Amino acid sequence: MNKAKVFITRKWPASVEEQLKARYDVTLNEDDRALTANEFKKALQDYDAVCPTVCDSFPSEVLKVENKRCKILGNFGVGYNHIDIAAAKAENLIITNTPGVLTESTADLAMTLLLMSARRGAEGDRLVRSKQWQGWCPTQMMSSDVTSATLGLIGFGRIAQAMAKKAHHGFGMKIIYYKPSPAEPSVINELKASACDSIEQLLQSADFISLHCPGGDSTRHLINQPMLDLMKPTAHLINTARGDVVETQALINTLKAKRIAGAGLDVYEDEPKVAEGLLQLDNVCLLPHLGSATIATRTAMGKKVLKNLDAFFNNQPIPDRVG
Ligand code: DGY
Repeated sequence: MNKAKVFITRKWPASVEEQLKARYDVTLNEDDRALTANEFKKALQDYDAVCPTVCDSFPSEVLKVENKRCKILGNFGVGYNHIDIAAAKAENLIITNTPGVLTESTADLAMTLLLMSARRGAEGDRLVRSKQWQGWCPTQMMSSDVTSATLGLIGFGRIAQAMAKKAHHGFGMKIIYYKPSPAEPSVINELKASACDSIEQLLQSADFISLHCPGGDSTRHLINQPMLDLMKPTAHLINTARGDVVETQALINTLKAKRIAGAGLDVYEDEPKVAEGLLQLDNVCLLPHLGSATIATRTAMGKKVLKNLDAFFNNQPIPDRVG
C-alpha cells in the first residue's frame, strides 16, 4: 500500500523527522524557510496531510483552494488561532493540536519573564555588556520582590495552573485568577487561590499579571488602555499567550509613562515583527516566542502530531481533534 503523503511546513526535531520518514512519504522543510500562502495552497492540493505550526497563517483564502487532496491539518502547537477553524470545517478538514506536552515548559518561561521583569534582568545584562556598570551601590537598579507578592492569572487552564503552582510553592506567592467557568476545587484548595469576579478586579489587585487566554477575535486587545490604567503602578504584565491579547500601542504608552513597573513579553501582534516602541524601552523584557522551546517539549509536540496523524490514517479516534 502507498504511504500517505505528508507535508511539514518547518524544521522539526531530528528524532521526530526520522519517525515521520519511517511511516510516511514525507516532505520536510530542511532549510526551515518561512513558506508563502501559495506554497501552502499547493501543499493542500498535493498532500494527504499538511502539518503547519503557529507561525504559518492558514486563512480561509488559503484553505478554500480548489482540488484539495489534504484531509487533515496536524498542527505543531497547542494554539491554533493562525488557522481559520470555521473555514477549515467548511472545507471538511480535520484539525489537531498538541495540548498537555508544553504545559510545564511554557509555565517555566512565564516564570522566567516574571522574574526578569521583577528584577530587571534584561536591563542589568545590557548594562554589563555595554561596559557602563560603575560597580555596586545601595540604590542601583532597585526592583520588585517576587516572594509573597500576588500573582493574578487571566485564564486558568493547564499552563496558568502550572505557573500558579511554581509561583505559590516556590515563591510563596498569593494566587488570584479570573476564569469565566469554575476552576477545579482540588487545584483551588492546593493553591489557596481566590477567584476574581472580573478582569478589572484582578488588574487592580495583582502585583504580577500573567495572561493565559487563547488568541483570536474574542480576546483581541482584551488588555487595552483602560485595562492597563487599572494596574497598580508597581505591577508587571507578563504575556506568554498570544500577542494580540494586548493592545501594543497602549502598552508602549503605559510603559513609556512608567505607569506600571514593567512587562515581560514572549509573544507579539504581527510576529515576528516587534513594535519599534517596545524595542526602545528598558522596562520591558522581550523574548522571541520561546514558551515551548525546550528539546524535550518540542520533541513531545512532534510526537503528538505523529500520534494524531497515525490515528487518522488508521481510522482510529483522533486524540487531539480541535475542528
Ligand atoms: C503553541 O503551541 O501554541 C505555542 O505558542 C508554541 O510555543
